[in-house]
Amino acid sequence: MSSLSAIQYDFPLQTLNTFGIAAKAHAYLRVTETEQLFGVYADAIWATSSKLVLGGGSNLLFTQDFAGLVLHMDLRGREHVRSDATHHFVRAAAGENWHAFVQWTLVHGYAGLENLSLIPGTAGAAPIQNIGAYGIEIKDVLHSVTVFDAATRSTREMLAAECRFGYRDSIFKQPAGRDLIVLDVTFALPRAWQPNLRYAELANAVAQQNLAAPTAQQVADTVIAIRRRKLPDPAQIGNAGSFFKNPVVSGAQCAALLEQFPTLVHHRQPDGSEKLAAGWLIDQCGWKGRTLGAAGVYPQQALVLVNQGGATGAEVVALARAIQADVQARYGVLLEPEPVFI
Ligand code: EPU
Repeated sequence: MSSLSAIQYDFPLQTLNTFGIAAKAHAYLRVTETEQLFGVYADAIWATSSKLVLGGGSNLLFTQDFAGLVLHMDLRGREHVRSDATHHFVRAAAGENWHAFVQWTLVHGYAGLENLSLIPGTAGAAPIQNIGAYGIEIKDVLHSVTVFDAATRSTREMLAAECRFGYRDSIFKQPAGRDLIVLDVTFALPRAWQPNLRYAELANAVAQQNLAAPTAQQVADTVIAIRRRKLPDPAQIGNAGSFFKNPVVSGAQCAALLEQFPTLVHHRQPDGSEKLAAGWLIDQCGWKGRTLGAAGVYPQQALVLVNQGGATGAEVVALARAIQADVQARYGVLLEPEPVFI
């Protein structure tokens, strides 16, 4: 059982979560080979203990120490799998850094992921919450995912259609996917690439540079510049990106809110529902730049909660609850957190 001898105990997780919360794991295993997962799930004790699959730690909030086994996915490798008449297929192992993978695709001439530049975290975590930014979600370009199924102790390929993708959601966050661990992700990137400038802020930033026909790398650089301006770098200040999802309400509820709040930021969805800008709602409630203990609301983007240094998970939760209560009282809308609470 050599794979299990690498398990470490009472393991500090502060540098393994982008919020920088000082939690500990009872047990910790860095997974560099799929074989290690077979070892864990074949073991009488570890197979039934609680487990946390950890990628880049950029979408979770530790509110306490973790009493089970952390499986830190560090499988590596990225490759061009094949090309056909219409697409290039490229693959990243779960532990690859997402942004480094996006850059690698661009350097090799495979365009299509550029709008998703600079999103923190790993490639393996990307499908779990169906990461999205600047007009693209990973579901738009994902071909398939290789998973380890802990229930059957086997690996298999799942096509995008089986992943039940939704806004910041997938089967991997749902009960039906609780036994699945992502091993690698394959993308189908169109050979006939066109820049996706549907997101107004990105289109404006590209236009300002007088780029008549921007390359994918130029789009990536523009996305990087926007993100650097608006979002805190987790290496400098602890955070998990957007802390709340943008709430989706009915067309009727949105219309009623607009009568009272004419400047409400909303985006009509294909099914007639309306997505509201949580950042705007929080900002309007006066939370931008405010703090509660060592937790705070980022001054440049009210949707991002930050660890100002030494914050506990409980402090971040208290701040989140206070924001939720204010937004609920003023707008009658419940904000749902985006990160997973541990
Ligand atoms: N706004 C404010 N005040 C604020 C923040 C935003 O008034 O403090 C307004 C903006 O002016 C804008 C609207 O709210 O009119 C929406 O803001 P923005 O365009 O910055 O995007 P977002 O809705 O805040 C979403 C994603 C981000 C993604 C961007 C760009 C969610 C929860 N967030 O943010 O994703 O990068 O769009 O596509 O869907 C993440 O998930 O971690 C994340 C950063």
